[in-house]
Amino acid sequence: MANDTARRPWWQTGVVYQIYPRSFADGDGDGVGDLEGIRRRLDHVARLGVDAIWLSPIFPSPMADFGYDVADYCDVAPLFGTLAAFDRLVAEAHASGLRVLLDFVPNHTSDQHPWFRAARRARTDPKRDWYVWRDPRPDGGPPNNWVAAFGSGVPAWTLDEQTGQYYLHSFLPGQPDLDWRNPAVVAAMHDVLRFWLDRGVDGFRIDVVHALGKDPLLPDDPPPVAGLPHACLNEHPSTHDLLRALRRLADGYAGGRVLLGEVFLLFSDTHPTYARPDELHLVFELPAAVTVPWEAPAWRQRIASVTERFAAVGAWPTWVLSNHDMPRHRSRFGSEARARAAAVLALTLRGTPVLYAGEELGLEDAVVPRERTVDPGGRDGCRAPIPWTPAPDHGWPGVEPWLPWPPDPGDRSVATLEADPRSILHLYRRLLALRRRRAALHRGGLTLRPSPDRVVAYDRDDGASRITVLVNFADEPTDCEASGRILVASDGADEGRAYTGRLGPAQAIVIERE
Ligand code: GLC
Repeated sequence: MANDTARRPWWQTGVVYQIYPRSFADGDGDGVGDLEGIRRRLDHVARLGVDAIWLSPIFPSPMADFGYDVADYCDVAPLFGTLAAFDRLVAEAHASGLRVLLDFVPNHTSDQHPWFRAARRARTDPKRDWYVWRDPRPDGGPPNNWVAAFGSGVPAWTLDEQTGQYYLHSFLPGQPDLDWRNPAVVAAMHDVLRFWLDRGVDGFRIDVVHALGKDPLLPDDPPPVAGLPHACLNEHPSTHDLLRALRRLADGYAGGRVLLGEVFLLFSDTHPTYARPDELHLVFELPAAVTVPWEAPAWRQRIASVTERFAAVGAWPTWVLSNHDMPRHRSRFGSEARARAAAVLALTLRGTPVLYAGEELGLEDAVVPRERTVDPGGRDGCRAPIPWTPAPDHGWPGVEPWLPWPPDPGDRSVATLEADPRSILHLYRRLLALRRRRAALHRGGLTLRPSPDRVVAYDRDDGASRITVLVNFADEPTDCEASGRILVASDGADEGRAYTGRLGPAQAIVIERE
């Protein structure tokens, strides 16, 4: 592919770091992370070398879906702090060179949001048509066959006894879907974005953004897919105009505000179209991005597909290995060596990497006993708290955290890994520093190289440097041709020396060609 030396915006050259606030750091000792905890740990994030943090929802909420059920879009949940604490966090993040993205949850509110409380009061309430209401079928059943996410096979409709109609909820019954066909909803949600943008927020990760536009006829899902959560199937062209309006709003602000959309479609490869030049800046391609197995052919195929499909519509890709909804990649891939090699991929492919807090520690999912399970979607394991120090409290003074620790919290704590230059934490720092230093890595083209079957190899070149990345997916040594000096190796071996032509077990290296 041609070199690409144009000046690029920060959201293409930078790296985003996702923080799940409940689990990051606890500032007040109640066992749940909060904004003050994040503020005190900003030095860790800044030293890592990322460009922005994305905070999962911090808004007032009954927490039925741990904040993805918002009861007030323009405030901070007392559990996490106050607006003043938020402003302080933003100011200190900015002073450390970190941008701050919030999570925007536009598809649904909480059933405790004043809008929904009004809407369910009477069919004639002015807020009624802010949500999606339908009469029961003649037999009294739900209006169509859509199924909610969470709870296998549960209808995406709940009957409101008092007013005799069903309301739509693509997720939990406590998360009624807003009706974005109503201009009043659009206007209110635009105001929400302005509220935070005016406060200095640098952008938003947008929750299930593909679900916003809905077929006005609400037709049944077809038989082959009926029974799967409708939110993973819903794709309606009207979404794209809604996104164009969001983009115009964000671009009306100075300073490179960014919109990063979560698109989670099961049988569609249209994800890149949500990040066309006049729509969102960036998009996650889920679940494909987090379900690629640890196999070289699968990764080669994925890299080729992302490169081609995003370029075809003028969109810029993202790379993500883990998030708060999926088992961590260290657990999925099965070893730390593989997790290290995966980090080399995520941070050297062409696109914007989005890291999930804790991956720089090589954390595995926590084993959560049944009596401590709290999430309706079975995602507790990847949300385990971050261990900051060795025993006894791992830097969470006060009561025991809301979820159990991930395995080996002492050995995996930030302080322990900090003290060991060979740790995965230092690998992340070296990779992030290299990515910043070498423009080829953040804006060069990408060309896959021929390689042995179990190796993924690609070149990242720009006018100034010529970089090759080799990733050995086998757990034994593999010969792979290339020549140059090793800049970073996933196991730290031979950095600064000439590459010998042989990769170690599950080793990934970044080399500079002569
Ligand atoms: C997104 C979030 C997930 C949440 C769901 C409903 O997929 O990432 O955590 O449960 O939307 O808001």
